[in-house]
Amino acid sequence: MNADGRTRLHQTPEWTALAKHREELGEVRLRELFAADPGRGTAYTLRVGDLYVDYSKHLITDNTLRLLRELAAATDVSGLRDAMFRGERINTTEDRAVLHTALRAPRDAVIEVDGENVVPAVHAVLDRMADFAGRVRSGEWTGHTGKRIRNVVNIGIGGSDLGPAMAYEVLRAYTARDLTFRFVSNVDGADLHEAVRDLDPAETLFIVASKTFTTIETITNATSARTWLLSGLGGDEKAVARHFVALSTNAGKVSDFGIDTANMFEFWDWVGGRYSYDSAIGLSLMIAIGPDRFREMLDGFRVIDEHFRTAPAESNVPLLLGLLGVWYNNFFDAQSHAVLPYSHYLSKFTAYLQQLDMESNGKYVGRDGREVEWQTGPVVWGTPGTNGQHAYYQLIHQGTKLIPADFIGFAEPVAELSDELKAQHDLLMANFFAQTQALAFGKTPDEVRGEGVPEELVPHKTFKGNHPTTTILARELTPSVLGQLVALYEHKVFVQGAIWNIDSFDQWGVELGKVLAKRVEPALTEGAEVPGLDASTTALVATYRELRGR
Ligand code: F6P
Repeated sequence: MNADGRTRLHQTPEWTALAKHREELGEVRLRELFAADPGRGTAYTLRVGDLYVDYSKHLITDNTLRLLRELAAATDVSGLRDAMFRGERINTTEDRAVLHTALRAPRDAVIEVDGENVVPAVHAVLDRMADFAGRVRSGEWTGHTGKRIRNVVNIGIGGSDLGPAMAYEVLRAYTARDLTFRFVSNVDGADLHEAVRDLDPAETLFIVASKTFTTIETITNATSARTWLLSGLGGDEKAVARHFVALSTNAGKVSDFGIDTANMFEFWDWVGGRYSYDSAIGLSLMIAIGPDRFREMLDGFRVIDEHFRTAPAESNVPLLLGLLGVWYNNFFDAQSHAVLPYSHYLSKFTAYLQQLDMESNGKYVGRDGREVEWQTGPVVWGTPGTNGQHAYYQLIHQGTKLIPADFIGFAEPVAELSDELKAQHDLLMANFFAQTQALAFGKTPDEVRGEGVPEELVPHKTFKGNHPTTTILARELTPSVLGQLVALYEHKVFVQGAIWNIDSFDQWGVELGKVLAKRVEPALTEGAEVPGLDASTTALVATYRELRGR
């Protein structure tokens, strides 16, 4: 029993029914499921917004789906979802509302936090961002010497970096090509060095993105960027006002740093870092693609928000994707989940999802304060096809692990490609379709033999198949489609956290490393004694100092 008198998740009838069903399914074969139901390839599909979602290549039957939906009902996923949309403080360990959905609400929506409608403030900031982005894009906003801004450098880390960096990459074809964008996150000085080494400070705008404005990596890089700027512009402190803006919830810290709060774009504590790139944190992206495209992206988010909020369980795509993840994570012992986009522009998408998913659901303590007795979030990984095919797909096809995967692809190549490069798109997509086919259906020993393969090689050339995949297909990679994809994964992560009874919106697990780094640093720089430092770290620090000649 939980402290609240509820039966623990793995003891509920719905969970045990799923475990029993899993046993009964035994070695269910996708080949057999498809042979038994010729309509499966269209029946197990859903459309939402611009997305066509095929979940037919999963190790499931109608009964599996029914039992999974019963689990969602028993764990009150929809109740928690409605509480989130209403602005209740469902992030209990931080006592905060979780309202990234308000960031894309229409102007006339009413969403209250502590009795105050937050929507007007959201749109006021969006309007200020649009005004500023317009001025940078047109050249009206100039640097300290009067030169036009040509370079925009976003300094941030985690959610204050991954979102805008990913989205900039995804929407490159929509960006102002006469501006250069760089994203600096790592406290390794090499990151900032490489980002600015070929830039003219007089033409460079720094956007310091930090929800808390206390994150050591960001503050250190921003301080070094200011030094770089001032030394390039003759040391006049007044230059900072034309070359630095801040994105934060913490006006006090922004002004302590020396950035005029008139140059600050605000967001709120009910926006989690990893859910924030559609807030002020997206300013670099808005400068890149322009306010109209940014709003199109927000509209895309909203399509999925509305769908998640209102669609029945049978056709609710984020719910379905969350449940499928639970099915493999908890009933097949799958340890990881691959996201494999067949678009070069989505090269940073999986890295973005890693924070979204793993920082949200990498928890072993439940919302009731007790240790969970079931698996929670998977390891999320992947890179764009076809590169992965020539690297790690071998393990997915013939390794010993079950790795459920999402394949994301587009019917149209990006418009600005030459005709010759556009023609490559069919080859890319042929790979996309071939891979999920090979993963699902494999190749039997008899099929291998039929190709005249010598008997001793038959086991090596056999593909067992039965590797589950979801295929997400859209016509074109637009700002709206990006918003739809991100919202889809946000809500999928939500569903899983709700079922596993964890707080998907805190991140206490990142704290300890930060504290220890602070303690160890003086040992590196001054050789200071760190009380209680373990023997391994003591020796490593000593070796480090020796190697640095200290
Ligand atoms: O890694 C922890 C974390 O707090 C993330 O959740 C967050 O996105 C990142 O650090 C950056 O935080 P901030 O925006 O406050 O600098």
